[in-house]
Amino acid sequence: MPYRNLGMDLVRVTEAAALSAARYMGLGDKEGGDKAAVDAMRAVLNGVDMDGVVVIGEGEKDEAPMLYNGEKIGNGRGPALDVAVDPVEGTRLLAFGRPNSIAVIAAAEKGSMWQPGPSYYMRKIVVEKAARGAIDIKESATENLNRIAEALNRKVNELTIFILDKPRHRQLIDEIRKTGARISLNSDGDVMGALMAAIPGSGIDVLMGTGGTPEGVIAAAAVKALHGGMQARCHPQSDEERQALSRAGMDISAVYTEDDLIRSDDAFFAATGITEGSFLEGVHFDRNGGVTTHSIVIRALSGSMRFVKGVHQLNAEHIFGAEGLASAVRLATT
Ligand code: FBP
Repeated sequence: MPYRNLGMDLVRVTEAAALSAARYMGLGDKEGGDKAAVDAMRAVLNGVDMDGVVVIGEGEKDEAPMLYNGEKIGNGRGPALDVAVDPVEGTRLLAFGRPNSIAVIAAAEKGSMWQPGPSYYMRKIVVEKAARGAIDIKESATENLNRIAEALNRKVNELTIFILDKPRHRQLIDEIRKTGARISLNSDGDVMGALMAAIPGSGIDVLMGTGGTPEGVIAAAAVKALHGGMQARCHPQSDEERQALSRAGMDISAVYTEDDLIRSDDAFFAATGITEGSFLEGVHFDRNGGVTTHSIVIRALSGSMRFVKGVHQLNAEHIFGAEGLASAVRLATT
């Protein structure tokens, strides 16, 4: 079992990723931004005292040169951990300069993280602690919103629901509109949606809808640490995905809670804003070469949640490119 708050090391990992990716904001280069973040994240991770294995990464070894599923990370000296990374959660948000792209990582005791296998998409519902017992993903959105409102002692039209703005959600959006609840439509980034839904007073009360399965597992670490409520079930978006799930013997009717997705109480979640966000500010390039980052780090075992503002002294001119990466990594490791 991890003996100390590893989250403090993990936040330096997401800071490095955000620092390296930030200069790609709006450049239209999804891959470039992602690669910068991956390189920085991996370099810093390798200095962390842990014996980690990437359970959720950038893909399989042949398609991802770094942070691939199964890759060993950390210096091997610390606790044995499963690690889930998303160096840029919201690659399009970053590429188009839209709000709420983040660098994010989750870690939990070895063997305790649910592995998505061939599942790409999950339907999810996330709420804060007070509404934990009110959600049931098998029921309609209307039923869930009525119960959540009651649990939070609010009216349905006072709730704000985070939904990804995707054609698959047309019916869900229509249904929610009929309840009178307010909707926050976002092109991408449902890890941030889940995080906000689990934090009372964040401006988002509920995350609903279908997003990535890996993102669901990462979000579960935050929800668990915050004692929020989450339910999810595989929601294949193509015949190919459906068949792959069936070949893998996965039951698409199974409902997973945050405790099923992260089966250990010692779990960590850290995220750093890349582009400006409604909850986490982005990377700011200040005058005189200073760079400011804004992060959140949460530990499930203690329930501690920290907001970390980092003021980094490095020449902004040099963040971009190999020299800058070295600076960002040096910065985050010292
Ligand atoms: P990427 O950073 O990998 O682009 O993911 C962004 C994201 O919006 C996630 O937040 C979400 O879970 C998933 O994509 C939804 O996938 P899709 O855009 O295919 O509907």
